[in-house]
Amino acid sequence: MKATSLLEKQHRKVESLFKQLESGRAEPALVLAELANELAAHMAIEQETFYPAVRQIKEDLILESYEEHAIAELALKRLLSTSPEDSAFKARVTTLKELIQHHVEEEEEELFPAVEKVVGEERLTELGRSMKAEFEERLAEGYEALLPPGYKKTSADKASHASPRNGAARA
Ligand SMILES: [Fe+2]
Ligand SMILES: [Fe+2]
Repeated sequence: MKATSLLEKQHRKVESLFKQLESGRAEPALVLAELANELAAHMAIEQETFYPAVRQIKEDLILESYEEHAIAELALKRLLSTSPEDSAFKARVTTLKELIQHHVEEEEEELFPAVEKVVGEERLTELGRSMKAEFEERLAEGYEALLPPGYKKTSADKASHASPRNGAARA
């Protein structure tokens, strides 16, 4: 599977978890934990592998993406620290969902088409294969291992500072 198709598939999964969370039919704490695991693992593989690989293609958009991940991660942490019985719970679910929606739209409508124009299908499939394996590992680690504690630092900050400027050479 192409890296971009893999990421799109993960976006759909996260969207379906938001729907479940909003429906109120499933146990909120369980759905939230699954959502946090999926989201943290997805952001990790984008930050650590996909974004550095394609950074040169749309650098402004990639830098913006790291910022959007950082803000989404803070919103996720606020939600994780909120009891489903708390009156702020629903508002925090909606806020996180809207942040993610906006970010996913930019990825799928601007970033991925630009990447698919430049990076060949074979290379994108190869990248997708390694990202899928990386995702399974991150998912198994769980969100608590992936999200730095506190509100000062996000995993996006760690990843964007760790990536060399010429990381795009790997694309
Ligand atoms: Fe992203
Ligand atoms: Fe994404």
